[in-house]
Amino acid sequence: MNAALTIPRTLDITAIRQEFPILNREVKGRPLIYLDNAATTQKPQQVIDALVSYYSNYNANIHRGIHTLAEEATASFEQTRDIVQAFIGAPSREEIIFTKGTTESINLVAYCWGRNNISSGDEIIISNMEHHSNFVPWQLLCQEKNAVLKIIPIDDNGELVMEEYEKMLTTRTKLVSIVHVSNALGTVNPVRKIISLAHAVGAVVVVDGAQSAVHLDIDVQEMDCDFFAFSAHKIYGPTGVGVLYGKKALLEAMPPFQSGGEMIKDVSIEKTSFNDLPYKFEAGTPNIADVIAFRSAIRFVLECGKEKIRRHEEELLDYAHQELEKIPGLKIIGKAKEKVSVVSFIIEGAHPQDIGILLDNRGIAVRTGHHCAQPLMDRFCIPGTARVSLAVYNTKYEIDELVKGLHKVVKILSK
Ligand code: ALA
Repeated sequence: MNAALTIPRTLDITAIRQEFPILNREVKGRPLIYLDNAATTQKPQQVIDALVSYYSNYNANIHRGIHTLAEEATASFEQTRDIVQAFIGAPSREEIIFTKGTTESINLVAYCWGRNNISSGDEIIISNMEHHSNFVPWQLLCQEKNAVLKIIPIDDNGELVMEEYEKMLTTRTKLVSIVHVSNALGTVNPVRKIISLAHAVGAVVVVDGAQSAVHLDIDVQEMDCDFFAFSAHKIYGPTGVGVLYGKKALLEAMPPFQSGGEMIKDVSIEKTSFNDLPYKFEAGTPNIADVIAFRSAIRFVLECGKEKIRRHEEELLDYAHQELEKIPGLKIIGKAKEKVSVVSFIIEGAHPQDIGILLDNRGIAVRTGHHCAQPLMDRFCIPGTARVSLAVYNTKYEIDELVKGLHKVVKILSK
């Protein structure tokens, strides 16, 4: 998709690495090896340039002024909405709402849709592998409304037990909120099947796309999700920008999330009427610079080509699996048949945090801990894992360095 939006180029990883200034830095006297891309990706020069260009050339508030700078800023901001619409295959630009991240997008649904559609005895289904941002909002909503939260179990490979999900669906199921790709395991969930089963009982479906939007082709119409949430900073874009896609009819029926400027049509002492979509949900001055720069991040991904990036990452993932499994005492957590470039692991006798600190001493950045998915860690009876997550600029050499580092870790911690 989106070939018309960009000029495709060959995937030359050495050249791509040159586009990421941070990859030239050293950590603890060694070249940085950044393997924490599920937490946030690094930013290519074109994203950094877009931020600088906005502040240097046309910094102004949007949707308000008629002066040249305001018009330029507004046009640039709205162009990002168009490219996001195309990026996820949304039917209309009115269905693209800018938020500050996936967490805010999901909370928006929980507040504006959830608090108006969930009542006592209703059921909400999520899974055992949800990030806290797709867990806590629904848990709080259920507590407030006296509704029932049901959790789809997962098996030892880190896959959803779909038979259990099917059994959970009832006429009281009002909402299913599911992660597309697990941040802690890399599992790709069968969202189309999950959605069609949910729709068969009349439930609305939210898909948490925080980890999928960068790796998988997203077509919200084909998927038929009711809401899709994701963040810019995990797609090589700036922090502080997220997207909520929602089907128009649902968004139109929902009350505003926050109130103030921009979300209004008319305000009098007696009453306020609300703006049209998507502005009804975008109260206040938005994160203009970062939304604008997000467009450059999407352009970067489309130029590289998602399919090419995926093939590169899959090759690295297979190699990482193969090499990590040779390390004595290392166990990979999450071996789903469908997974993206995330490897979570534990090492017998080593606390994940110690693994992280020792790797950092070698300039290698991995994430350690519960990955904001404590119910998932409880499922595997572990406090946390060390997690390697890969992006387009990673290389086999970096995995070799990681493996060397882990052999050292095992030696040090087994003394
Ligand atoms: N959700 C991000 C992660 O998985 C922060 O690391």
